[in-house]
Amino acid sequence: GGEETLDDKLSFSGLVSLLPKERGWLSEHIHQYQGFWYSTGVLKGLLILQQHFQAQPSDILLASFPKSGTTWLKALIFTLTNPTCLDHPENPLLSANPHELVPMLEGYAAQHPDDPRPKLSSSSSLMHTHIPYVSLPESVKESGCRIVYVFRDPKDVLVSCWHFVNRLRPETVAPISLADAFQQFCRGASPYGSFWDHVLGYWKASIEWPKRVLFLRYEDLKKEPCVHTKRLAEFIGHPKTEESGGDEEERVRRVVEFCSFEKLSNLEVNKMGSHSGFGFPVIDNNIFFRKGTVGDSHNHLTKQMCDELDEITKDKFKDFV
Ligand code: A3P
Repeated sequence: GGEETLDDKLSFSGLVSLLPKERGWLSEHIHQYQGFWYSTGVLKGLLILQQHFQAQPSDILLASFPKSGTTWLKALIFTLTNPTCLDHPENPLLSANPHELVPMLEGYAAQHPDDPRPKLSSSSSLMHTHIPYVSLPESVKESGCRIVYVFRDPKDVLVSCWHFVNRLRPETVAPISLADAFQQFCRGASPYGSFWDHVLGYWKASIEWPKRVLFLRYEDLKKEPCVHTKRLAEFIGHPKTEESGGDEEERVRRVVEFCSFEKLSNLEVNKMGSHSGFGFPVIDNNIFFRKGTVGDSHNHLTKQMCDELDEITKDKFKDFV
């Protein structure tokens, strides 16, 4: 399978040629579709998902804007939903990066157009997407599956993104200055942007369906990891383990400790290993671990840039946060 017919190719490139276009950060272009911006490859995956993806009620979908804490949440949810893995010498997280264990839907779909539902080996169906709420496949909304969304301060998101892009960017794509990235990000014309509309979509869904959509903040998790990991555990209705003697606090504490930046980033697999990702045959695992702190943006953005981003946030979120 996976063979693309000439018809598919023509109709996809036909659609793409009609969409508004901007410079991409990791790809040559990004295209605006249903109000958000996507690289050509992601857009292809998104269209396939919208047509063919079947969600199941027991699925857990982690959703995020890029660089908002996806790696951390992948590790946390994977550990919570595989309750014996912490006590197991073959804990998959010791030999694979979280991104290898939790597939990204749009990337998987672009690579498997005939059967876009990832085959999962773990006990729960944990998957990930950066797609905004409005464009999720209908079956995700209809199935009632649970969605965990992680949100982070846009100043730190932008800085984290910019570093990431600079490390991953293929030679064929021109480097982008922080000033240009800032301008595109503020206008909403950056990959998966607008950031603010992305957050608002999931925020509104979490208000409307609190049992179905959990909204977490990176900064809250950093400050009180156990409190928010416990909320997360309760939300996903994880299987309880006997190993911790039924002591829930202790179990959450151990999960938090294992998934901490210090612990995960210092694992051999994440220091030296690599994996193949969507559009990138080799990605060094350490690229997903940079600083893992709150407020690093102040070391890279000018005061004026920080103020401008804060202003947009205040204005966009005035009715919500
Ligand atoms: P910085 O670039 O600010 O350090 P994503 O996982 O969505 O791609 O986001 C990456 C950001 O999360 C990076 O931020 C990275 O360092 C940080 N990160 C990765 N693992 C983390 C962890 N276990 N705890 C906290 N932050 C983590």
